[in-house]
Amino acid sequence: MVSEKTFSSFKLASELPSWGKLQSLYNDKGKRLSVKEEFSSDPARFEKLSKTFVNYDGSKILFDFSKNLVDDEILSALIALAKEAKVTELRDSMFAGEHINFTEDRAVYHVALRNRANKEMFVDGTNVAPGVDSVLQHMKEFSEQVRSGEWKGFTGKAITDVVNIGIGGSDLGPVMVTEALKHYAGPLKVHFVSNIDGTHLAEALKVVDPETTLFLIASKTFTTAETITNANSAKSWFLSKTGNNPAYIAKHFAALSTNEAEVAKFGIDTKNMFGFEGWVGGRYSVWSAIGLSVALYIGFDNFDAFLKGAEAVDKHFTETPLEDNIPLLGGLLSVWYNNFHNAQTHLVAPFDQYLHRFPAYLQQLSMESNGKTATRGNVFADYSTGSILFGEPATNAQHSFFQLVHQGTKLIPADFILAAQSHNPIEGKLHQKMLASNFFAQAEALMVGKNEGEVKAEGTTGGLIPHKIFSGNRPTTSILAQKITPAALGALIAYYEYVTFTEGAIWNINSFDQWGVELGKVLAKVIGKELDTAETVSSHDSSTNGLISQFKQWM
Ligand code: F6P
Repeated sequence: MVSEKTFSSFKLASELPSWGKLQSLYNDKGKRLSVKEEFSSDPARFEKLSKTFVNYDGSKILFDFSKNLVDDEILSALIALAKEAKVTELRDSMFAGEHINFTEDRAVYHVALRNRANKEMFVDGTNVAPGVDSVLQHMKEFSEQVRSGEWKGFTGKAITDVVNIGIGGSDLGPVMVTEALKHYAGPLKVHFVSNIDGTHLAEALKVVDPETTLFLIASKTFTTAETITNANSAKSWFLSKTGNNPAYIAKHFAALSTNEAEVAKFGIDTKNMFGFEGWVGGRYSVWSAIGLSVALYIGFDNFDAFLKGAEAVDKHFTETPLEDNIPLLGGLLSVWYNNFHNAQTHLVAPFDQYLHRFPAYLQQLSMESNGKTATRGNVFADYSTGSILFGEPATNAQHSFFQLVHQGTKLIPADFILAAQSHNPIEGKLHQKMLASNFFAQAEALMVGKNEGEVKAEGTTGGLIPHKIFSGNRPTTSILAQKITPAALGALIAYYEYVTFTEGAIWNINSFDQWGVELGKVLAKVIGKELDTAETVSSHDSSTNGLISQFKQWM
């Protein structure tokens, strides 16, 4: 274990001098700070607090932090907190391939997957760059063969459909990215099966033809119960449709995994296996072979641009001073709201229909990473960690839960994302302009609100007045991209990775393990066996026993 060696100098966030300073700042002025007044008193606020990220291809993304509840003093204290929490030291340890995931004794090295500059990157004394590159070459060749029709199914027909079977990080990334980059889609259709609910697989199998379908079994461990069960059922379906000839599997099944032995046991030719290493966390694996469905869907060159977009953020995060470091600032603001304003949630609303799965993807990234209580010092945190991330695309979200964001009793810091250029500028950009006007209006409305005088001036009287008041001063970060290209999407994901990294570093937790998902898995195995028997189950609490009995009767 490396914990003692590497982390003994990391402290509980609440023990850091700037933590106390931030608490005083919050008490003295932070809780009353009016962003509207900050804008009035500082005409340069937007220039100061908005940062433009320039991607490797020259395209830009503007991150406007100016509508957040901070002033110069609060920001300086947050930056001081980052220094005291040694965020950059942890970052450098990660980039040096150290085992910063100390509870699993592993490096955290997904950044090596997007090392398109092909620098040497070492883990445990081995330069991993050549291995990464060779898997990418394999992905390139394979995806080109399948897309061009050169790769044939067992009856000699070209592949038309790809079914990715995986769950968690082996599903959410590929689903989200293929949806987000649908504009770049080529000849293949993609389908995703993740849920153990038989409906998910059954519905996918209804629309595909075994002669022209390629199944990708995506699982880092190749032992995840849902994925292996779904994969076995898909294999049975395929064999039943093809005269039970296991020789055909080689043309129709590929594995994306770190576990060669299990892949072989499953019956997939390891020539059709795309590997990666244990230092790739599941929720960071879309950059790895797990991204094969993405490469098949949008083409390898676009996948490469996606990797390069993230690589450009790696460079920004490692080379930019803290004051201008975009993801670091995003992470610090999150800590400010979570720990001093006691915000429980974080809303991410993309004003972009193609990004409709982005919040779901970010939920795993953020909540599986930072939903922890134990710290790197092996004691429990005495402060709040991991915010509840949620979101839906706007403008739809405006017509549902935005009511609570505007007038509810809770503070909900929000990120709004828009691309200036639509992939579908229909009706002379009418739709795009309406979308954009909502993007600007929502952030403005949340900030300026509407006070009693303004409500009265509109002619509202009596008991209706309070219902029409908007407190305002509700913080937003506006993220304006030029266009959602593969490079821009890669950059946006990497931005949120480093927001999450910064939060975790400050909270002094290990953002890279996920012990919290284990208990339920173990109990499900026990109960799974109990469902196979006719006996009355009595080994649990009376609620669980009662529910199981009722289920058995009704099943
Ligand atoms: O149960 C959680 C988890 O381990 C995630 O971290 C991971 O992304 C997912 O399960 C799937 O794991 P695998 O890729 O090994 O099937």
